[in-house]
Amino acid sequence: MSGGPETDPDRYPAAVRRAADGFRAVHGGDPEGVWAAPGRANLIGEHTDYNDGSVMPFALPHTTVVAAARRDDGVLRLHSADTSGGTVRLAPGELAPGTGGWAAYPAGVVWALREAGLLPGTGEGGGAGGDGGAGADLYVTSDVPTGAGLSSSAALEVATALALNDLYGLGLPAERIAALCRRAENDYVGVPCGIMDQMASACCTAGHVLHLDTRDLSHRQVPFDLPAAGLRLLVVDTRVKHALADGEYARRRAGCETAARALGVRALRDVPPGELAAALAALPDPALRPLVRHVVTEDERVREAAALLDTGAIRAVGPVLTAGHASLRDDYAVSCPELDLVVETANAAGALGARMTGGGFGGSAVVLVEAAGAEEIGRAVTDAFAAAGHRAPRLFGAVPSAGAR
Ligand code: ADP
Ligand code: GAL
Repeated sequence: MSGGPETDPDRYPAAVRRAADGFRAVHGGDPEGVWAAPGRANLIGEHTDYNDGSVMPFALPHTTVVAAARRDDGVLRLHSADTSGGTVRLAPGELAPGTGGWAAYPAGVVWALREAGLLPGTGEGGGAGGDGGAGADLYVTSDVPTGAGLSSSAALEVATALALNDLYGLGLPAERIAALCRRAENDYVGVPCGIMDQMASACCTAGHVLHLDTRDLSHRQVPFDLPAAGLRLLVVDTRVKHALADGEYARRRAGCETAARALGVRALRDVPPGELAAALAALPDPALRPLVRHVVTEDERVREAAALLDTGAIRAVGPVLTAGHASLRDDYAVSCPELDLVVETANAAGALGARMTGGGFGGSAVVLVEAAGAEEIGRAVTDAFAAAGHRAPRLFGAVPSAGAR
């Protein structure tokens, strides 16, 4: 549980140097700059972001770093230190949804910028002084765990978008960058996610959670000073990702949209908690009831957590987290035995509260603990995984860390 980025202040400058050195080795010449964007964990507000609801993520100390330089021939050359596939080269005409593998994330960002008319050139000429328009060489290096529900993909998208924003002088605000990155993920990579992860990576700041309204993207930074309160937040990466994750996510999302239509509201966030019982009774398909109950009560839990944090009552957020987990497990049905085991074990060992974080079906959980009890609770979780025959989980303590830069 130690030795992670949060305990090593030199880790970020070292990553920046590594990215610049890697760029020189792969692409030749110096990068024009280095940009970084963090992974995220979500404190509370799960499966609300595609229902126009609220969320409360924070930036992890883990960061994706992109060294980049412009090209005026419209070509993209993409290299990641974290994959073994070598450099991906995309000619301007090859930039279209369907690019496979990891390169789809940065390529999708360039595509989204072009689709929005923000980057010149698609290979037809008329670009940034060259034949094929605005291209780029990128070199990526990251310590965000991939596929752990901690948004390594959003970190990659946002770091890429920041690089292009600066290199091409686009002057885009963070919210617009997040929206373009989400477009890349939805329409280029093909993942029907909401906007939480991209907004978290683009807008979170150190020492705060981001209280975000996903309908209008209004947001505020809510102080979340764990060390001052004598608390720690453990992230437990279960290191499992169940195969049904993607299909089940899309099914939940479609179910929510069907329910909103049936109830005559724009999105489920428009069902007031006081009208929940009536809304449930009005649903024609009983299978939709638990979905609606989760979304409406989860949005209420975000409000509750925000009110508690505003008064500095961080400990009191613990039971709200645990209630959120129960709702995700029993109503929304997106948990799994490994995530349930983290929550049950941690709470039994004295945690203040715990819940799965992210989409579910594996990935990670967050556990709020007294700093003094962190080691013991972490050990209890690791022991429980061993006793259940699960692969050892990865644990680290996360303080809300620096955002994109
Ligand atoms: P999460 O975003 O929660 O980590 P996803 O499965 O949505 O999980 O995204 C992970 C994918 O993002 C990886 O499989 C890879 O394609 C891409 N990715 C993320 N970080 C990097 C990186 N540093 N280098 C290359 N690809 C990356
Ligand atoms: C993630 C998705 C987010 C959000 C979350 C559940 O996988 O990328 O947009 O919907 O699941 O809260």
